[in-house]
Amino acid sequence: MVPATPTLLENDLQLELHFDLAIGPFRANWFIKHTNYARSEIEMPVITNIYDLKRLHKRRTPKMFYDYCESGSWTEQTFRENVTDFDKIRLRQRIAVNMEGRSTATQMIGQDVAMPVALAPVGLTGMQRADGEIKAARAAEKFGVPFTLSTMSICSIEDVAENTEKPFWFQVYTLKDDDFMRRLLDRAKDANCSAIVITVDLQIMGQRHKDLKNGLSAPPKLTPKSIADMVTKVAWGLEMLGTKRRFFGNIVGHAKGVTDPSSLSSWTAEAFDPALDWDRIATLRRMWDGKVILKGILDVEDAKRAAEIGADAIVVSNHGGRQLDGALSSIRMLEQIVEAVGDKVEVHLDSGIRSGQDVLKAVAMGAKGTYIGRAFVHGLGAMGEAGVTKALEVIHKELDVSMALCGRRDIKEVDRDILLVPEDFAGRWA
Ligand SMILES: Cc1cc2nc3c(=O)[nH]c(=O)nc-3n(C[C@H](O)[C@H](O)[C@H](O)COP(=O)(O)O)c2cc1C
Repeated sequence: MVPATPTLLENDLQLELHFDLAIGPFRANWFIKHTNYARSEIEMPVITNIYDLKRLHKRRTPKMFYDYCESGSWTEQTFRENVTDFDKIRLRQRIAVNMEGRSTATQMIGQDVAMPVALAPVGLTGMQRADGEIKAARAAEKFGVPFTLSTMSICSIEDVAENTEKPFWFQVYTLKDDDFMRRLLDRAKDANCSAIVITVDLQIMGQRHKDLKNGLSAPPKLTPKSIADMVTKVAWGLEMLGTKRRFFGNIVGHAKGVTDPSSLSSWTAEAFDPALDWDRIATLRRMWDGKVILKGILDVEDAKRAAEIGADAIVVSNHGGRQLDGALSSIRMLEQIVEAVGDKVEVHLDSGIRSGQDVLKAVAMGAKGTYIGRAFVHGLGAMGEAGVTKALEVIHKELDVSMALCGRRDIKEVDRDILLVPEDFAGRWA
């Protein structure tokens, strides 16, 4: 029997399998069953919110990668509170205000954005869906919001640049190897990246239990358990077979001693710089002569230091609850940070945003921009590029309508007045 060779012609909503050669009845049945399953999977269901996309993401993606996305460190307290703290803030309904001619357009670090939302850097995005970074970047550029590529992406800087038209942002971790850092920044410059995002909250990694239990790796290791899981995620698997991008594209073949993916895990364990301090951050800032965003600030004192070293923006973030479990949610810390440095540096926020109402609340509390991590990954895992577009549409609609019902027509006019915030929201912590 000659093995079947499926070729994948796919534009996210259409999938066709071509069998090059005759195949035996058993294998044919398997493919027909699973091709039908794949087809029914990619019919567009009615999506009304990010949680619809999340459910589809879970159904369509191998458990190892879904869990990698949907987890926080240790007890996941901070991960949960990032979301539930947004719910504690209420909106103030106003009436009889002309709602015509509304606009959510504004600027982040001087760049025009269709709404104050960027796609956050998310490692292994290309494992959630084949060529995931390219798909997400395309959706973002069509929508008119920034896309941030992670250092730990599957598609490389060059891959994304070749497959998009507008400049994107590039996120860098602070690595010990200066030469590699410099080359990475040169590559980002050559790819016309318009800003770098330096992540400062991951010198060492917070433990996420699920990743250890699932044996997370890219590409996934083939064990009986992972194979059993993957054969039920047919569309995912077929797409992955159709791409060459299955390794860490920014690293393999670029970092010294990493020419094949098997040596990568030892590289990452050694590469991150545990000795990172403010001098080093200032040096990195000087290594890039464009806009710099410092991501992972959750404390007023740190925000002041970030402003001093000349960051163009900071992201109030706890890495989506993936680093210090027990830290306060980003939204709780936002106002005091804005109060301390808002006139010196642009303040952005991420962690916990699942709706346009969350974006509105963050903007009303002083954020000039926000980032979505899991919300766009759920879209990608659910429906590829169309799913990321859907996630952005959902968030945009919720933002626009909620803003109007609060009596505002322009996102730039939104202020604290539209909110009802419990007196003890920020908390009295000693
Ligand atoms: C699966 C996953 C991978 C991530 N990888 C990175 C990364 O490579 N670099 C980085 O700076 N942040 C990374 N983050 C953090 C995000 O950039 C962002 O801070 C976080 O997702 C925001 O929280 P949210 O998911 O609740 O929106 C990652 C987050 C997730 C969920």
